[in-house]
This record gives sequence, C-alpha cells and structure tokens, in this order.
Amino acid sequence: MKNLNLLYEGKAKKIYEKAPDEVVIYFKDDVTAFNGEKKDSIIGKGRINKKITTFFFEMLEEKGIPTHMISDIDENSFLAKKVKIIPLEVIVRNYTAGSFCRRYGIEKGIKLEKPIVEYSLKDDDLGDPMICRNVVLSLKLVEEKVLNKIEYYALKINDILSQFLESKNIILVDYKLEFGISNGKVYLADEISPDTCRFWDKETMESLDKDVYREDKGDLIDKYSEFLRRVEI
Ligand code: TMP
Ligand code: ASP
Repeated sequence: MKNLNLLYEGKAKKIYEKAPDEVVIYFKDDVTAFNGEKKDSIIGKGRINKKITTFFFEMLEEKGIPTHMISDIDENSFLAKKVKIIPLEVIVRNYTAGSFCRRYGIEKGIKLEKPIVEYSLKDDDLGDPMICRNVVLSLKLVEEKVLNKIEYYALKINDILSQFLESKNIILVDYKLEFGISNGKVYLADEISPDTCRFWDKETMESLDKDVYREDKGDLIDKYSEFLRRVEI
C-alpha cells in the first residue's frame, strides 16, 4: 500500500485512499476482543478473513445485495467503493450466544423463534452501546427509509448465508454487519468473516470463529482454516 494515503486504521483493517471514490481495504493480522482489552497479532489471519469476506460479498452481490466491493487486489486486500459508513453495528441473531445470553441471563445455543436484528452505536469510547430503532431515528442517525432498507438487507443476507452454511453443516449463530451510503444508495460494507460472525459446527456445536480467541479455546488459525476448508473457498 506504499504511496497510498491512509484514511483510517481500525482494530483489524486499514483503509487507504485509491481514488476520490475508491478505497483499498487491507486486512491486518491483528486480533482484538473485549473492545481491545485483549489483543494479539496472528500471522495469516488477515489473509483468511479477506478471502472469506470477498467470497461472501461476491455471493451476496449475485443475489441482489449491493456491496461496496469492486474487485480483489491481493492476499490481504480488496478494492471498494468509498462509502460513508453509517455509525451502527447491525447484529442479526439466530441462536442465543455472547452478549445476548449475558444481557438476558439465557443459556447459550437456543434457537430463536425468529431472527432478531439489533443495533449498537459504533463508538469504541462508549463501548458500542446497544441502541433501539426509535433512538436511531430520533437522533437522526439515519433516515427511516435507509433503516428499513438496512433491516431488509440484514435479513435477506441471513437467509442467503444461513442456507449456504447449512449445506456445509455449519450453523450461522449470529453476525455483525456495517452499511455505508454513496450517492444516496445503501451498500453492505466492512467485512463478513469469522471475526464478525459466530459459526458453529452443526454436529458438535464447536466454534469456528473468534470465540476460540475470546474464550481461549483453541488455535484461531486452525479453526479459521477449517472454516475455509468446509466452505470450500
Ligand atoms: P455479541 O454477542 O458479543 O453482541 O456479538 C454478536 C455478533 O457480533 C458476534 O457474531 C460477534 C459480532 N461482533 C463484532 O463483529 N464486533 C463487535 O465489536 C462485537 C461486540 C460483536
Ligand atoms: N469487541 C470485539 C469483539 O469481541 C473486538 C474488540 O472490540 O476488540 O468482536
């Protein structure tokens, strides 16, 4: 990424400016959990997450979800349309896990009656607090028609990914999405990877995602590589 202007550096990615309306998304090997309290660098993680993200973005684009991805660049990066990121983490849950269990005192692994869409305000200093639809609209974080579109895409993505993963004997437990806007149009942005999703083996309920790192229950690269093998990327 020599010679490119670094626009933004997050915990797992760097964004470089490629052209006035194009950016390079570079996946780092850094991994963090609990709002950066736990952090490490794990060689090969960036490459795997880039591969999985571009695979899913391509699949979703083919099925009618506009994504910010333009084209693949190299092992760790892809070219994307420059979008204005909406400051919301859009979380979809199919099974109980993580903060949902802690918040409501519920056991892990229960299938939910219907998929749930939740929002968190993207703000590390505040610890990404949960925010409800009414507050999002009252604070004018996004227009109502944009929020409706985001929710529609989030659930459509759930159908597409759950069905695909089911065919590989993997349960899509929950995941986080981010969206951006360019010229008034909503695009799926950021990444879809084992860093931002919970994937469980259907038979053993074993994690093939970042929970292995969060909970110190195995080697991250082993599990991410197993996910790659299972989905045949
Ligand atoms: P949670 O159960 O910790 O709220 O996480 C829900 C999903 O969102 C899970 O698949 C992990 C993902 N996630 C992120 O991608 N980034 C985050 O900062 C957090 C807290 C969760
Ligand atoms: N909270 C994020 C996670 O556990 C990572 C981080 O905030 O450092 O996925």
